[in-house]
Amino acid sequence: MFAGRRVALGVSGGIAAYKAVEVLRGLQRAGCEVRVGMTKRACEFVTPLTFRALSGAHVVVDDYAPDNPDPIAHITFSQSVELFVVAPATANVIAKFANGVADDFLTSTYLASNAPVLVAPAMNTTMLLHPATQRNLARLRADGVRLVEPDAGEMACGTIGPGRLSEPQQIVTAALEILRETAGRRDDLAGERVLVTAGATREELDPVRFISNHSSGRMGFAVAEAALARGAEVTIVAGATTARPPAGARVVRALSAEEMRGAVMREVEGSTVFIAAAAVADYRPAARAEEKMKKSGSALTLTLEPTPDILAEVSRSRHNGLLVVGFAAETERVVENARDKLTRKNLDAVVANDLTQDGAGFDTETNVITLLARDREQPSTLPLMSKLDAAHHILDEIVRLRKAK
Ligand code: CTP
Repeated sequence: MFAGRRVALGVSGGIAAYKAVEVLRGLQRAGCEVRVGMTKRACEFVTPLTFRALSGAHVVVDDYAPDNPDPIAHITFSQSVELFVVAPATANVIAKFANGVADDFLTSTYLASNAPVLVAPAMNTTMLLHPATQRNLARLRADGVRLVEPDAGEMACGTIGPGRLSEPQQIVTAALEILRETAGRRDDLAGERVLVTAGATREELDPVRFISNHSSGRMGFAVAEAALARGAEVTIVAGATTARPPAGARVVRALSAEEMRGAVMREVEGSTVFIAAAAVADYRPAARAEEKMKKSGSALTLTLEPTPDILAEVSRSRHNGLLVVGFAAETERVVENARDKLTRKNLDAVVANDLTQDGAGFDTETNVITLLARDREQPSTLPLMSKLDAAHHILDEIVRLRKAK
């Protein structure tokens, strides 16, 4: 499974740089083909020659060095690898990754690559615990970067605490786990036409006011992005969003629940999977004023009426083979309520969010989800992860359901 898998190993400058040799050996033992890139500072701890001898290939430090066989290595290198492992990653490299600074080979490679990234931080305890580093690590997690948390113990500088590079074997195991996941996911949705709803609906009161919610569209867009990466054709029906839809998806705009219903019912005809990630308003004003409503000084009572339940309608009228997945945003009895939605709306799967958890739900970069499927008794609760990672887990469930059908 790992034979010939192409991995880039980035080494940045810290005492732990010598341990990167063990990471390289471990990956090679599993069968991976590893290319190494280093920061200038890393070369003060281990020489590029060491990595060159072990990897059998030129080690890039400076893209523009005259001896570099490839003058635009950060592009060719980054786009030909399946995984980018950075071990050790210093506070400085982490800060640059988090902010998109690309001032050397390693950081340019990070920006120029679509491959999954695994970062193993190593630094002094105070630097690790500094709010700036913690902020940058949170940013990386939200951007979908996997982290191998540093160990606690005695550091080279004599202090005791967290910050020591995780054991090379642990870094290798985490890297192989990512390669295993991506191998299974490659093109496993080829032939599927996925329809996703995303964002918030807006229910107008008058020409200037509306009722809406905090949905940014990120979760739906992440599902679309993940499905595209796995070979599906993707259409997004998007309400109001603040995030950017992924390139490669067809986007149909539909602001109100009624418009979204119309667009979905049209698009679902040619679809094989429907994923309702939009936060559709459950109620709308019973009447929309033609002119801007004037204040009167006294209390205003709004009469609201239910909107059409798009998900339930799709499920009721579904054609053969259409897989239907809903979301459930809950604040209490999460699994119970989600299970109820699954049965009531006759769904194949439900993605439940517990809105009371940190990092879950609306307008965040991350999510904490629990997956329920019609053919599985046990729900699976996943830890805090980026919305893109969560999207891949949702799609894994779809692939499983498709095979089971
Ligand atoms: N949904 C929809 N159309 C609506 C309302 C919701 O398609 N008018 C979809 C959402 O996109 C989501 C799922 O239904 O996938 C769950 O929405 P929610 O409003 O939580 O469901 P309800 O059945 O209304 O549950 P509750 O009783 O908790 O309001």
